[in-house]
Amino acid sequence: MGHKGISVTGLVCSISFFLLTLHSAYGDVSYSFPEEMKRGSVIGNIAKDLGLEASRLSARNARIDTEENRKRYCDINLSAGEFIVTERIDREELCGEKVSCILKFELVLESPLELHRISLQIQDINDNTPIFPKDTIKLEIAESAFKGARFRVNAAHDADIGQNAVQSYTLKRNDHFALSVQTTAAGSKYGELVLDKELDREQQQELKLLLTAVDGGTPQRSGTVVIHVTVLDANDNAPVFSQAVYKPSLPENSPLGTLVLTVSSTDADEGVNGEVTYEFSRMSDKARKMFTLNHKTGEITVIGALDYEDESKYEMFIEGKDGYGLSSDTKVIIEITDVNDNAPVIYLKSLFSPIPENASPGTEVGIINVQDRDSENNRQVRCSIQQNINFKLVPSIKNYYSLVTTGELDRELVSDYNITITATDEGSPPLSSSKSMQLSVADFNDNPPLFEEQFYTTHVTENNKPGASLCSVTARDPDWRQNGTVIYSLLPGEVNGVPVSSFLSINGDTGVIHAVKSFDYEQFSSFEVHVMARDNGSPSLSSNVTVSVFITDVNDNSPQILYPALEGNSFITELVPKATYGGSLVSKVIAVDADSGQNAWLSYHVFKSTDPGLFTIGLHSGEIRTQRDISESDSMKQNLIVSVKDNGQPSLSATCTMYLVISDNLAEVPEMKDISYDGSNSKLTSYLIIALVSVSTFFLTFIIVILAMRFCLRRKPRLLFDGAVAIPSAYLPPNYAEVDGGGTLRSTYNYDAYLTTGSRTSDFKFVSSYNDNKLHADQTLRKTPTDFAEELDGCDGSPEVGRYCK
Ligand SMILES: *[C@@H]1O[C@H](CO)[C@@H](O)[C@H](O)[C@H]1NC(C)=O
Ligand SMILES: *[C@@H]1O[C@H](CO)[C@@H](O)[C@H](O)[C@H]1NC(C)=O
Ligand SMILES: *[C@@H]1O[C@H](CO)[C@@H](O)[C@H](O)[C@H]1NC(C)=O
Repeated sequence: MGHKGISVTGLVCSISFFLLTLHSAYGDVSYSFPEEMKRGSVIGNIAKDLGLEASRLSARNARIDTEENRKRYCDINLSAGEFIVTERIDREELCGEKVSCILKFELVLESPLELHRISLQIQDINDNTPIFPKDTIKLEIAESAFKGARFRVNAAHDADIGQNAVQSYTLKRNDHFALSVQTTAAGSKYGELVLDKELDREQQQELKLLLTAVDGGTPQRSGTVVIHVTVLDANDNAPVFSQAVYKPSLPENSPLGTLVLTVSSTDADEGVNGEVTYEFSRMSDKARKMFTLNHKTGEITVIGALDYEDESKYEMFIEGKDGYGLSSDTKVIIEITDVNDNAPVIYLKSLFSPIPENASPGTEVGIINVQDRDSENNRQVRCSIQQNINFKLVPSIKNYYSLVTTGELDRELVSDYNITITATDEGSPPLSSSKSMQLSVADFNDNPPLFEEQFYTTHVTENNKPGASLCSVTARDPDWRQNGTVIYSLLPGEVNGVPVSSFLSINGDTGVIHAVKSFDYEQFSSFEVHVMARDNGSPSLSSNVTVSVFITDVNDNSPQILYPALEGNSFITELVPKATYGGSLVSKVIAVDADSGQNAWLSYHVFKSTDPGLFTIGLHSGEIRTQRDISESDSMKQNLIVSVKDNGQPSLSATCTMYLVISDNLAEVPEMKDISYDGSNSKLTSYLIIALVSVSTFFLTFIIVILAMRFCLRRKPRLLFDGAVAIPSAYLPPNYAEVDGGGTLRSTYNYDAYLTTGSRTSDFKFVSSYNDNKLHADQTLRKTPTDFAEELDGCDGSPEVGRYCK
């Protein structure tokens, strides 16, 4: 446990010997904490000390990074924001003899990227005892040595530092030696034996002394060594090193066997007494693996792989000893210099993939950290990204970079990015490395389905089979999955007041349009529907297209003969005056065809006639004219069988019979039924018929005259129906009266008949023709022959004219 103080106030609380301080400056925080603390020990509350919300740490992906990517000794507890110990921290292993041992960390937070430096000063605890280099020290001292002579003893070493290092030595009481404690230039303490009472070899050949080294820690620790003193006959000089401290430097990666330094010492003695041998007296285990010392020559050579990044400085002591065992030592500090041997390393700290395609420019998609283990210029790193992609690197804090978008992303253009980042240091030669990362773009429903055509047209022949497929529409949507799945539907609409859905249907998946029923050109020849393509996104996008359906005509309607038409059970007869000249218009066959174009282009032919030379028919007008003057010898009854053909493929036709009576007098018109009979069959029958007709005609004429006299005497007949042709609208073919419910007729004939009383010939006039005029259905509907008769007024006196048509 420890107490924490804010250094700004200079307040330092130290109740127990663990001292914990917190510095906070420039968003950085430093802690001080003892080594060798249990895992999980709380060093401090970073969140509190930096003023961060502990609850948001997780969301901001807070984490502790160590610089060199080495062992991570501490971490952050995200729930409480505490900085805790996660590994055993051994100050001696980490920092050796360095007075200050600091671990550096970085606290990284995202959105926005934030970096805080944390330094942790590791405090020493007295966990190491002073140790002498050897268990026993052998000293050879001549009996002639004077009182006050000094003999150096190698220092004891304590891995701890400061107060916890060796503070003093004590020598167990003895008859001959006292102890003098000395301090070296480097600050370490060693002991010297001072001869207090001269030695006498004859009296005592050997002595054993017990030297104890103590440190200043609490509790105190100590180490001892036994010194064997051998009393010799002659005197001797100790070797003297040429330098008290050697400071060679050496580039890292120096090859094995490289000579670092030769230490040398001189000994005033001659012969064996002047021969100096060298050995390492005190050095770290690490240094022992790197260097070797030639005992005779004092050459230090490299035996291990030197790495500046691992250790930049080695310290060692070398002892020089002459043949009599007199020794002295020197310190060697080997500095390792940096070589640009480490390429930068790129760490991808976070990557937000997939990134939505509607992300605005400047969106941060990743965080990159670059490290170079070298030092100085060798660790200056420049980062770059390959050009012409939608991203750039923005230097952030220290060696962090943000990867941000520079423009709009479009998944439909590029759905995956392979981003390569290159880092180059400024060493010479420079080293570089690169890292690729895959970034995918997530779909956003930003494309409506688009039809391949701006509009669609299809032609269908009428009388098609219901269910037949007419055409197909296709729309494409480049979005992903359901955002790009197209569904087709018909937009509601009407054709002549009937919903389009009763005419067409569309397959929602394929866009194939089917006819629901059979079309009739005579009802409508074209219509439009609107098709919508919608994607399955949410919200979904759609577009519309117009499909025009054109129905092509089939010759499915035969010509309809309007005149002469069968009217009830009677027949129509035309009176031809006897004095008709050749070329006169006698009558006219009127026919229509509900089809259109060629299918409705009618031609008239005389199929059969009583006297082939007498009448002709206009090929396209249907007008019946005399070919020559009528003579007395011409038969009174003339029958023409007229066929009307349309021009379709195959053509359809209709026939009718025109009954002409050459007579000036209605009264001469014979019985109609007889006329209908084709007299050329049998002579006998003809005579019989003529006889019968004559009798009947006579009888009829008698009756008519009686009746006419009775009625016409009272009322002058207003109209004399004497062969003039009146074709009322009731003669229109039924289908013209019942066309579509819209109330207007698309094709309507309106015949206006001039009923001539005086003229003996018939005149027609077409007042209107196809499409010129619209006639309301109710005006043309259902005029019965009775109505017609009423229109003709009730002139009973006029002869009942038979009308019939085959
Ligand atoms: C990405 O680009 C790097 C360098 O151009 C290449 O080595 C790697 O194979 C690419 N990866 C993919 C998935 O395309
Ligand atoms: C479709 O687009 C929406 C946004 O419009 C998006 O949220 C969704 O993830 C997309 N779906 C797919 C499958 O990509
Ligand atoms: C398609 O037509 C529907 C119905 O008329 C309309 O609501 C929609 O806005 C139209 N969409 C487009 C893209 O024109």
